[in-house]
Amino acid sequence: MKIAIIGTGYVGLTSSAVFAHLGHQVFALDKNEEKIKSLKRGEIPFFEPDLEKLLKEGLKNKLLIPTTNYKEAVSCAEIIFICVGTPTKENGEPDLSQVFAAGEKISKYIMKNAVIVNKSTVPTGTTEKMKLLIKEKTDKKFFVASCPEFLREGSAVKNTLHPDRIIIGTDSKFAQEALLNCHKKLPGEKVTTNIRTAEMIKYASNAFLATKISFINEIANLCEEVGANVDDVALGMGLDPRIGKDFLKAGIGYGGSCFPKDTKALHFMAASKAYNFKLLKAVIEVNKTQRRKFIGKVRHILKNLKGKRLGVLGLAFKNNTDDVRESASIDIIKWLMDEGAHVFAYDPKAMANAKVILPKLQICKSAEEVSKNSDAILILTEWQEFKTLDWHKIKKQMKNSIIFDGRNLLELQKMKQIGFTYVSIGRP
Ligand code: UDX
Repeated sequence: MKIAIIGTGYVGLTSSAVFAHLGHQVFALDKNEEKIKSLKRGEIPFFEPDLEKLLKEGLKNKLLIPTTNYKEAVSCAEIIFICVGTPTKENGEPDLSQVFAAGEKISKYIMKNAVIVNKSTVPTGTTEKMKLLIKEKTDKKFFVASCPEFLREGSAVKNTLHPDRIIIGTDSKFAQEALLNCHKKLPGEKVTTNIRTAEMIKYASNAFLATKISFINEIANLCEEVGANVDDVALGMGLDPRIGKDFLKAGIGYGGSCFPKDTKALHFMAASKAYNFKLLKAVIEVNKTQRRKFIGKVRHILKNLKGKRLGVLGLAFKNNTDDVRESASIDIIKWLMDEGAHVFAYDPKAMANAKVILPKLQICKSAEEVSKNSDAILILTEWQEFKTLDWHKIKKQMKNSIIFDGRNLLELQKMKQIGFTYVSIGRP
């Protein structure tokens, strides 16, 4: 099929590369000329495993065409996916201006019977609103649908090639058939529903996952009070298939470009209908306090942070990404620096992005360098490579052998055996 994708962020670019890999002809549009130039050279603007390989494959067989030209992208597209950002405004409301702007731009060039699909995460009713806006601008017959995306950064290609489910929300049989056809080579159950329900499925999914994380973090806090071990509690709970073992890892809370934004947006949406979503409010609140609580532990042990040399391992909001948006690590470093600590940090991928937000941050080339003469080490991102560091060697280089593990990444017994003062989350 001929497909146009508007926006080349994580969702847009991954979808473009995967659809081209499946044999569709894909025009990947972005208004950022520099980005399109680098995509044409086969370079991706962020770190994402396997994506560059797929982009190069698409460019080579000419099925993936990056462009800034709306006419070129849209005029012969049977399906147009809108994959633009929906950032949060001050009040928690999502900013939908990019979605509507994209709708308006494509309205000039769509062909008859084009299916316009919203993949951006939007409040219920947005896709219908976009339809009305486009209708005002064109006489051509077109259809709309909502097809939310569930990929995770760090495994975006894998998730898109092997989705758990594909949600197709539309009131049109024609659009439904076109979308089923477009996704037919992909595994995963296809759920067909109406537009508003599809939009809600995305928010409900992310809010539920965020709830699991805040729930286990509250259990972790209670474990600390009663002398239980949250990792074993999560294991014991997760073996019940009704609960499931994923997203029960206690730590310093969730970050990233989705959970913080989407939980706030869903809460805003509920409030705008005068619905008091008490549970979600608590999920957001717990996530905020979890970061503060961690700093409290550091302060409790180190007392005055002024002048202390602190080594930070991990800047990204999670492992396998260079993304630092809403990263718990960045927040925590800001607070440490505000209290006068000298922070030295290392991350396998996210150092350049972190430096943009924290220009005064001292960047190190390795975990070993971070540890030299440090008063403590803080583990703030769950990079698996931190697990296999030579912790005996690191201990020798530190001034004080104290570790604050915000991700419960290291083994409790092993760290104690080596002789660390080891503080983690919800473990005795
Ligand atoms: C998320 C959703 O998982 C994905 O389906 C959706 O499309 C976009 O939002 P992503 O933002 O890539 O994906 O991150 P995810 O892997 O879900 O992790 C989110 C945050 O939760 C990270 O900060 C991570 O460290 C944290 N987390 C995750 C925990 O603290 N504990 C866990 O058990 C799992």
